[in-house]
Amino acid sequence: MPKLVVSAKKDENWSDRFESLDNKPLHLDSRAIKRKCDSKCVGGVEFSLEGENHKTLNLRRSPRKSEPGGCVLYVGGGVIAVGNWWMDCNDDFIVLTGFNTVFSKKGISNLWQINYPFVSIFHAGAVEAILNHSTELKKAWFYDLLHPFIGQGLLTSYDERWRKKRKMLTPAFHFNILKDFLHVFNKQSKILIDILMGYTKDEYIDIVPLITKCSLDIICESILGKEVHSQTQPSSSYAKAVVYLTDSVYERMQSPWYWNDFLFKISPFGRKFMKNVDIVHNFTRQVISEKKEELMKKKSAEPPAYAGNEVEGTKRKKLALMDLLLDEHFKNNSISEEEIREEVDTFTFEGHDTTSSGISWCLWMIGLHPWVQDKIHEKLDSIFGEDNRDATMEDLKEMKYLECVIKESLRLYPPVPAIGRMLRNDLQIGEYVLPKGSVCLVLTYLLHRDPEFFPNPEKFDPDRFSPENSAGRHPFAYVPFSAGPRNCIGQRFALMEEKTVISSILRKYKIRSLDPRDKVQLLDEIVLRPHKGLRIQIRERRQPFDFNSIYYYP
Ligand code: HEM
Repeated sequence: MPKLVVSAKKDENWSDRFESLDNKPLHLDSRAIKRKCDSKCVGGVEFSLEGENHKTLNLRRSPRKSEPGGCVLYVGGGVIAVGNWWMDCNDDFIVLTGFNTVFSKKGISNLWQINYPFVSIFHAGAVEAILNHSTELKKAWFYDLLHPFIGQGLLTSYDERWRKKRKMLTPAFHFNILKDFLHVFNKQSKILIDILMGYTKDEYIDIVPLITKCSLDIICESILGKEVHSQTQPSSSYAKAVVYLTDSVYERMQSPWYWNDFLFKISPFGRKFMKNVDIVHNFTRQVISEKKEELMKKKSAEPPAYAGNEVEGTKRKKLALMDLLLDEHFKNNSISEEEIREEVDTFTFEGHDTTSSGISWCLWMIGLHPWVQDKIHEKLDSIFGEDNRDATMEDLKEMKYLECVIKESLRLYPPVPAIGRMLRNDLQIGEYVLPKGSVCLVLTYLLHRDPEFFPNPEKFDPDRFSPENSAGRHPFAYVPFSAGPRNCIGQRFALMEEKTVISSILRKYKIRSLDPRDKVQLLDEIVLRPHKGLRIQIRERRQPFDFNSIYYYP
């Protein structure tokens, strides 16, 4: 794709001028992908899963055990593709999405992983059949690699164990509880804003690490009720360990020689991993026991003060999610201390990298679309004027356009680009029967680009999510938080956090993004990340941008 360099001067046709550029399929140029796939094929054999290969899905194959060891061998129509180690690792995502786009039939395509199917699904109807199934709720085998870190918490458990946890944890994400966390979102956003002030004279900053630290501080304070200060004290060993583990889990998934638990744990990589696991677990256990002691002392003195229970005129103490779990532990012993630890670790793992990815991509998109940013600024000014006060729940509710922007950004850059399931029974989807033992990957990244539901799919258009334009859309065409029984329990928390952090930044600053869309390489590391960060120029609202510098547009 030709590089487009455009001056950033605003004129009446500001948005029209770039509209046509927006429409280009940036990542899915099928010929380029096919060339790429061909060049990656062992011995130059062509990559193909068309035609007959799909029908093989109707063949019954003996079910494989659910935890294969050894190497992955992706075998396509004729022969082919071999695990990840033979590819340039940074190209994984584009090769896989490209491969699926080129060779899919009605949003379904298949790779053989050794001798069982690895099925990618990205058409709304097929996605509904998988995600809305009432019993096929087991996660794919590679989620088990998370066990040393988060145990069998809500994300990785299944059947009765999962059902019991889900029922117990759902009330903890009720609106009345979540609104108590707004003060944490506001407080940590303010710290971030102060930090950003130090960059207003720089040509650019990579926004990703700053947002990651902010969202880590938010999740830890909300879940543990304890500040970890990763924004202000980069040396916090707990925060460092969480970030290390999040990154390393993906590395393990990519390396078949680390799949066996024993071999992994005796390897230098595994030993370092387990050392960090100990840091995280010990920290969480210590916080749990401190809180438990605190609660036991208080319990005899005063009744628990939950949302909705407060006596008029009294100020209720804000509770962390962990307090709610501890109360459950005291009330009927339905959750043990170790299970609380697993859930807390699950939330910190699942709740910081995803939101950080969501916020970073969204800021980058806003910085690429100045007319969108103008509209957000206008609304924020009308809500807050010059006032420096914290955002309230009512303010967040008023930020309807920002919500559309966040949703559109989650569509194009879903923080969880693939959701994995393991079938334990044959499943009919349209004309295909997926045999038991299949791994199904719902590819949200591709699903969200289906032109049937999102015409001109590469175009960044927040208005797609206005109430009028959303009405009647297939409910499974857009699932950044998954959908059905195993949807994201933290989605309201995440949207509130995204809104608070992004609006706080834009109340004070204006931003522009220096990397155009076709130059940002995507990595699927469980969470969708930019390979080399996202360069953003940040200025105070009244400060001018330096328009002499190069300004790329999508
Ligand atoms: C933008 C932010 C977020 C995105 C895009 C996101 C996305 C998702 C997705 C796609 C799933 C399904 C995963 C699967 O089936 O493999 C999921 C599950 C989950 N998420 Fe989130 N998430 C976000 C934020 C959060 C937050 C903030 C929390 C916690 C505070 C959280 C906690 C969880 C948990 C515990 C599950 C497992 C639910 C279950 O299986 O019952 N997520 N999330």
